[in-house]
Amino acid sequence: MDAMTTLYSRRSIRLYNAKSVPGNVVQDILRAAMCAPSAGNERPWHFIVLTDRALLDEIPKIHPFAAMLKQAQTAILVCGDVALEKYKGYWALDCAAASQNILLAAHAKGLGAVWCGVYPTEDRVMNLKKLLNLPEHIVPFSLIPLGFPAEVKEPVERFDGSRVHDNRW
Ligand SMILES: Cc1cc2nc3c(=O)[nH]c(=O)nc-3n(C[C@H](O)[C@H](O)[C@H](O)COP(=O)(O)O)c2cc1C
Repeated sequence: MDAMTTLYSRRSIRLYNAKSVPGNVVQDILRAAMCAPSAGNERPWHFIVLTDRALLDEIPKIHPFAAMLKQAQTAILVCGDVALEKYKGYWALDCAAASQNILLAAHAKGLGAVWCGVYPTEDRVMNLKKLLNLPEHIVPFSLIPLGFPAEVKEPVERFDGSRVHDNRW
């Protein structure tokens, strides 16, 4: 799939079949995540690969919009390490860029994925930190279930010329 086709056709996929995501595919996706740009090349991220069924089943109890984890065999929790931040406040933007790379790489690899928001919703951050024993300086940012898709979603055209401005507003 070429890059523009990947961008234009990515959708949030929330239904997955029972097939496990191979480890080498997860590795390729993480490599793509770490290709993301970051402020001053600070790369303040860590990635927790979740495959433990008990943990995956526990998360929807603390995240109201992550019920799809009960079906997913794998999920990636993108975390920010505030101790690695060179430019204050930029860690979250860097983690967002990495999260988007994960979504696009998953789609390019034929997987379905969806960004489940964690940061800055305080109770989700706090409860995930507790569940996964994250150290103080590690902030869970986004949770991305991965799986072989059990739903088909058509691309949507979202180009809106009214949001584009020439030179001045
Ligand atoms: C910051 C952020 C948080 C999101 N949180 C959730 C979530 O908690 N659960 C969910 O099912 N989808 C979540 N989404 C996915 C959006 O609902 C989805 O991207 C949007 O409806 C557009 O649909 P599409 O991704 O299929 O183009 C989130 C997306 C973003 C960027």
